[in-house]
Amino acid sequence: MQMQAAVFRRYGGPEVVSVETRPRPELKPGHMLVKVLATTVSSGDWRLRSLTVPPGFGWILRLMVGWRAPRAASQILGTELVGEVVALGEGVNRFPLGTRVIAYPGGRLGAHAEYCLLSEKCAVVAAPAQMNDEAAAALSFGAMTAYDYLLHRAELKKDERVLIIGAAGAVGSAAVQIARAQGAHVSAVCSATKAEMISALGASEVIDYQSADPLQDEAAYDVILDAVGHAPWSALVRSLKPGGRAALVVSGFATMLSAGWKSWRSGRRCLVGPASEKQADLEAVLALYQRGQFQPLIDSRYPLANIQEAHARVDSGRKCGNVIVRVQRAESTMAQGE
Ligand SMILES: NC(=O)c1ccc[n+]([C@@H]2O[C@H](COP(=O)([O-])OP(=O)(O)OC[C@H]3O[C@@H](n4cnc5c(N)ncnc54)[C@H](OP(=O)(O)O)[C@@H]3O)[C@@H](O)[C@H]2O)c1
Repeated sequence: MQMQAAVFRRYGGPEVVSVETRPRPELKPGHMLVKVLATTVSSGDWRLRSLTVPPGFGWILRLMVGWRAPRAASQILGTELVGEVVALGEGVNRFPLGTRVIAYPGGRLGAHAEYCLLSEKCAVVAAPAQMNDEAAAALSFGAMTAYDYLLHRAELKKDERVLIIGAAGAVGSAAVQIARAQGAHVSAVCSATKAEMISALGASEVIDYQSADPLQDEAAYDVILDAVGHAPWSALVRSLKPGGRAALVVSGFATMLSAGWKSWRSGRRCLVGPASEKQADLEAVLALYQRGQFQPLIDSRYPLANIQEAHARVDSGRKCGNVIVRVQRAESTMAQGE
């Protein structure tokens, strides 16, 4: 059986991705096969495709994905999806056939195709009936990162002051809403054109980084989440209260190695590393959505055939939330001839 998939065989710009016919993944024990309805092109896909990584991570990524070119197992990108369960491998009974599920393959990738094989270890939840495919496709990547960094690592509490740098991105726009849901006072950093949208997500203050230095105030914040990665450590330390936490979603290898030392020296916790791909965190962000406290922001949408354009939009670095790729129609809508 064949399927259409977006494949990249060399590192580079959006032009290295092409839609091709590939064999449909074969069902294995401990896995389920999902018909992909929609997915996203995320900043994670951009980093892998282009090998644009924070300093010191290039060789690590090449070791993981392929030294000169991506290995066959990593040639189909895509970290998150909404799809329908079409086959269950031996020992898998979490969802009945036909269930519409939200899955976060994360680093396992594979969502940019008509079918994706999901391991039992992958975070998967049933999609609520009232949730549309776009929101479902974009539920996990940004929000699970923001949730992990703000709630697990930085232990953000009610009434604390948090600064979100990169508030208009997939991670930042989720972070603003999750921090607000936690009862924190949120200051958000984005460009002026996006200020109104970010205020509407719950930020009480929006700082335009093109006209003001968001880190100019001393000891102003309990937590700073940096989803851009340009802020010097000294400026973050100055802006954090003693005992404050710097949630560095983007950090170079040297910062990762020195995080313990930086924390000890400054009296501010330096929090780094890959974000959670845990089932419990996917369930937590879905619960936030169901309580009306989180809604994934949608930037733009493309059919799978135009996935190069979706990659180009992500490469611009200007997307506002999530770039959706529509892949297949649900069986139910096909049956109704919609
Ligand atoms: N540690 C992890 O495991 C992990 C997990 C997920 C993501 N990440 C990383 O987190 C970063 C953010 O991811 P994302 O998906 O949210 O990216 P994204 O959606 O591509 O971010 C785009 C946004 O960044 C904003 N931006 C660019 N420069 C800015 C600046 N100097 N100050 C404030 N905002 C700025 C842009 O807004 P304007 O147009 O307003 O500038 C745009 O809305 C990426 O580098 C990604 O690789 C790390």
